[in-house]
Amino acid sequence: MAAAIALGLLPRSARVDEGGRLVIGGCDVEGLAETFGTPLYVYCEAELRARCGEYRDAFGVDAVSYAGKAFLCGAMARLVDEEGLRLDVATGGELHVARRAGFPATRIVYHGNNKSEAELRAGLEQGVGRIVVDSFDELDRIERLVADGLPAPRVLVRVTPGVEAHTHEYIATGADDSKFGFTVSNGTAREAALRVAKSDAMELTGFHCHIGSQILVLESFALAATVVADLAAEVARQTGAPVDEINLGGGLGVPYTADELDAPSIATFAATVRDAYARACRGAGLDPAPHLTMEAGRSIAAPAGITLYAVGTVKEIPGVRTYVAVDGGMSDNPRPATYGAEYEAFLPARVTAPRPLTVAVAGKHCEQGDILVREAHLPADTAVDDVLATPVTGAYCSSMASNYNLVPRPAVVFVGDGRARVVVRRESLDDLVDRDEFESEGD
Ligand code: LLP
Repeated sequence: MAAAIALGLLPRSARVDEGGRLVIGGCDVEGLAETFGTPLYVYCEAELRARCGEYRDAFGVDAVSYAGKAFLCGAMARLVDEEGLRLDVATGGELHVARRAGFPATRIVYHGNNKSEAELRAGLEQGVGRIVVDSFDELDRIERLVADGLPAPRVLVRVTPGVEAHTHEYIATGADDSKFGFTVSNGTAREAALRVAKSDAMELTGFHCHIGSQILVLESFALAATVVADLAAEVARQTGAPVDEINLGGGLGVPYTADELDAPSIATFAATVRDAYARACRGAGLDPAPHLTMEAGRSIAAPAGITLYAVGTVKEIPGVRTYVAVDGGMSDNPRPATYGAEYEAFLPARVTAPRPLTVAVAGKHCEQGDILVREAHLPADTAVDDVLATPVTGAYCSSMASNYNLVPRPAVVFVGDGRARVVVRRESLDDLVDRDEFESEGD
């Protein structure tokens, strides 16, 4: 029989009270569902801040960006600013949300493999700290915008180092066959860097690579560091100018299930990467080593979040399987359907109860593939109206949420010190028709 849910999968403020009920950030978790409704994304603010702090301590001030694609809203942008991290945005939309929250442009790193002219214009006008350039077409666009009078940006050249990252193919980005960046192995990356260095429309600040996400085997980072350091040294020799910065991206994986709890910590990851980077720079003759920067998304946001649902139906097919259906699904967490991602499930009001039932937790969408947890272990008396939680949903769930089947997107709540505040309100049914241009002839 499966043991109680591992506390290691929950934010560090999680505790179980005398009645066997889960408390996070000083708030009774089932009570949050009652107060704010379900589905509900709940974040422990202390966990988010602690993880930002671990990165800051491990890599130094001005060295780490939070990757907003993992989870971004005004409150998160503000929190990242307060914690002193930079912010990686990947689109004009992420840039807009960050700037509306008052995030300083100079600490923004602007990504994207196909930034439009309008997106680039917004970045240049606002004076973002770095633009990570990804293609020759983008260089053309920046040159046109600067010729039109916009200020020349500081640029990191994104390269694909030809490294396998041992993760799902949809989230591996470092191999030669990638839509991102300039290929190192065929000389394209060097050519791009030399063009940037010569251009009056850009300042070559350094290089960037990101080999993939949910990486639990760290060796690939050392390989990537070597390739990028060698390239930086070669370009520095050819231009006669030092390279200021090398950004090795993000990608540290997190445990999603109890049997992954030995995943590397932020501190282990940082020690491994810093060590490999120092060796790579020495080997390449880069002295002093360029400033090492990183971009962490999942490993900051994922473990700080859980999602709460209400159980709506329990369908037992004797000899086959039991389906427990909840009031959300692939619209609030597309990761199981998209990547085969695995999660656990538990009932926050009965955390210590034995969990003899093996069920599939299904969503409410019109797809057989809308399964959130293939093999969840739940208490024998799991029933309609129970609140069910899936842990480690703080990254790439709310940010990838959709309106499939016109299901409104959940609210986001931050908890801490016994208080809960809504930082993103629940989408309403009216929100679903707000952009609709259909003129009703009826009422
Ligand atoms: N930097 C760049 C350039 C990236 O593309 C990413 C993630 C990161 C940093 C942050 O990586 P992280 O630390 O979060 O691994 N939707 C997928 C993950 C896609 C990752 C996209 N890029 C998922 O749900 O697994």
